[in-house]
Parts: sequence; structure tokens; C-alpha cells
Amino acid sequence: MTGPLLQLAGVEAAYGRSQVLFGVDLVVEAGSAVALLGRNGMGKTTTIRTVMGLLPLQAGIIRFAGQPVAGLPAHRIARAGIGLVPEGRQIFPNLTVHENLVATARAGAGAGGWTLARIHQLFPRLAERAGNLGSELSGGEQQMLAIGRALMTNPRLLILDEATEGLAPLVRREIWSSLARLRAEGLTILVVDKDVEALARLCDRHAILERGRVVWTGTSADLLATPEVARRHLGLGG
Ligand SMILES: Nc1ncnc2c1ncn2[C@@H]1O[C@H](COP(=O)(O)OP(=O)(O)OP(=O)(O)O)[C@@H](O)[C@H]1O
Ligand SMILES: [Mg+2]
Repeated sequence: MTGPLLQLAGVEAAYGRSQVLFGVDLVVEAGSAVALLGRNGMGKTTTIRTVMGLLPLQAGIIRFAGQPVAGLPAHRIARAGIGLVPEGRQIFPNLTVHENLVATARAGAGAGGWTLARIHQLFPRLAERAGNLGSELSGGEQQMLAIGRALMTNPRLLILDEATEGLAPLVRREIWSSLARLRAEGLTILVVDKDVEALARLCDRHAILERGRVVWTGTSADLLATPEVARRHLGLGG
């Protein structure tokens, strides 16, 4: 493969007649971790839904591993090697932890070689809770399960949408350190979150969305060195 693992150029998308994305450009190189940032309602989830084929691409190009994915059904895009940890986790409440993990397992495009044993190593809590129903888990355990479920598809690219939202600080730290481990193992990651410091530690590059356009991109060093960027585009830091 030549070129980035995921590439968006001029991506436009809409809900019915209400356009939300107005030309999103984004590049995720293989082996890197990229953050997608922006205030509420700026189009982060919509961008991810469009990549996954859950919303039609109205204009522009999306390429995964060099291949255009526009028009492919969502399951084909997922099977090409994209694992999604969706906003709100969306685990199966009436299946056990074990069933949630094996329900979507497959020998995917990635070389992850993910097994139940490896998921349990990454998140020992899931081993302890293997027989519990999804609905019986804490928020943090649900989030671990959502990540484990995505990994069981052996993705080449893991996309996480607000994976730490609403979690206690200790659990949040555990999620971030699991992502750092995945990254160190070579998994490519695209992550939406609002924790700029944690994102700066995990990611190589950052893209800020504002009203459906990427208005700033840079490295972690760039982001930390220019606090006015976070102030202006993210409403952070007074
Ligand atoms: N199902 C929908 N139908 C119509 N409009 C929607 C729908 N989902 C989102 N929108 C609108 O699209 C815009 C972008 O929403 P999106 O969910 O992509 O934002 P976001 O950046 O993920 O925000 P947040 O940080 O709150 O998750 C918002 O104006 C939102 O109101
Ligand atoms: Mg969102």
C-alpha cells in the first residue's frame, strides 16, 4: 500500500437537507494516532459515521488502504479493517460480556491476532465480568467492552468516538493507557475526545473541526505550544 491508511478529501455529508460537513480533509498515516477535536456539534461524529458508511458521502473522497470506500455498505467498510468504538458504546445489553466479544469476532484484515485471552490481558475486568450481561456493567466496563469488541474484529484502524466521556478519572486513565499500549503495538488509531492533554500524549497529529471543516492541523507540540488554538477553537483555557 502507498499513501495514508485513511484519507478524507473534501468530504461533505448531510442529515436530510441539513448539510453538516462542508469539505473535511483528514489524513491518518499507518501506524500513527490522530486526534479529531472540536466543540459540540461541529461534526466529529458525523465525520466518523460518513467514514463508516453509515451516512452517504455527498461529495469528496474517502480512501481506506488506498481504496475508495464511498458507496460501500457499512459492513463491507468495517470488514476492510476499520473497528469502531461508537459514541455511547452501543454494546448489546442482553448479551454477556463473553457473548458481546465473540459476537463480532472475525479474522479481520489487520494482523492483530486478537483473541479473548488477549482482550482479558488488556482489560482484566472483562475476564472477571465475562458472565455478566452488558446491562450489568459500569460505564467504564462498558467502554472496555466496546473497545474489546472492536479489537476482536482485528482492525487495521481503530476509531474511538468519546471513549472517555462520563467516566471517573481512574477509569479514564485506564482507557488512555490501554490506547497507549495498542499504539505501541503498532495499531493505527483515530480518536475523538475532549481531553487535550491526554490526546497530546497519545497522538502524533491533531485536526480541529469547526462547523464541518478542518480549521487547524498540527502536531502535539504545536497544539501545546499554541494555547490560543485550544482557546479559540475548543473553548478551553479561559
Ligand atoms: N441524526 C441527526 N439528524 C439531524 N442532525 C443531526 C443528527 N446528528 C447530528 N446532527 C447535527 O449535525 C451537527 C454535527 O453533529 P455531530 O454529532 O457530528 O457533532 P459532534 O462534533 O460529534 O458533537 P459532540 O461533541 O456533541 O459529540 C450538529 O449540528 C447536530 O445537531
Ligand atoms: Mg459526537
